[in-house]
Amino acid sequence: MGIFSFTKRIKYKDFTAINVDMHSHLIPGVDDGAKEVADSIQLISGLKELGYQTLYTTPHTLQDIHPNTHETLKKGYATLEGKLPQGINLQLSSEYYMDEQFINQLNEGTLLPMPGNRLLMEFSQISKPYDLEEVMFNLRIKGFQVVLAHPERYLFFHKHFDYYSRLKEMGLELQVNALSLTDHYGKGIRAIAEKLIEKDMIDFFGTDIHHIRHLPALKHVPESKFFTRLVDSGLLKNNTLNS
Ligand SMILES: [Fe+2]
Repeated sequence: MGIFSFTKRIKYKDFTAINVDMHSHLIPGVDDGAKEVADSIQLISGLKELGYQTLYTTPHTLQDIHPNTHETLKKGYATLEGKLPQGINLQLSSEYYMDEQFINQLNEGTLLPMPGNRLLMEFSQISKPYDLEEVMFNLRIKGFQVVLAHPERYLFFHKHFDYYSRLKEMGLELQVNALSLTDHYGKGIRAIAEKLIEKDMIDFFGTDIHHIRHLPALKHVPESKFFTRLVDSGLLKNNTLNS
């Protein structure tokens, strides 16, 4: 063993290489993220300190719990105008839950996609929606590119890892959560996140930040060898959103 074996070599000290965060809950009072403008500013300043410059923030649109519309989201976004830390570019999108309200907003043409007509989406963490493939097919036909939020958190996929390949075949892009590279959501979720990275299946990296208490945990994520692997893979598309 060489003398350097005990030295932990850290290649990335922060998130500068990722630059664009595309999953966060930074708009005050619209979901379970920031409550007040002051919380939003604290979270945004924290992300800036971690090395982020552009933030596509994605408050929940979830009919039964956070029934947001483009209007409620834009109104919340407007409350941050003129208050952002210098050098931060904050853009508005949403994390859409696959439900009836989503289909209505799709039909009305009132969704708030990211560049590339991308939609960050999630669905039930309890069971796979019976119409998942049909809805995803229809979104593709309509010209949307779906990014599945935190695929590692859907426990019913854990025993059917091959389904992640199926999701990719269906044209979905996969976004892993930064804190899934720690034990924040549990060891099972961490193991799946790491396996998805090892198999080069991840397209996007996001913080999914909701609370200020996520910041200290996020700070250590770049130390993970899976973070290094992901950044060095050249597969991350976060910067393609930076228009
Ligand atoms: Fe989220």
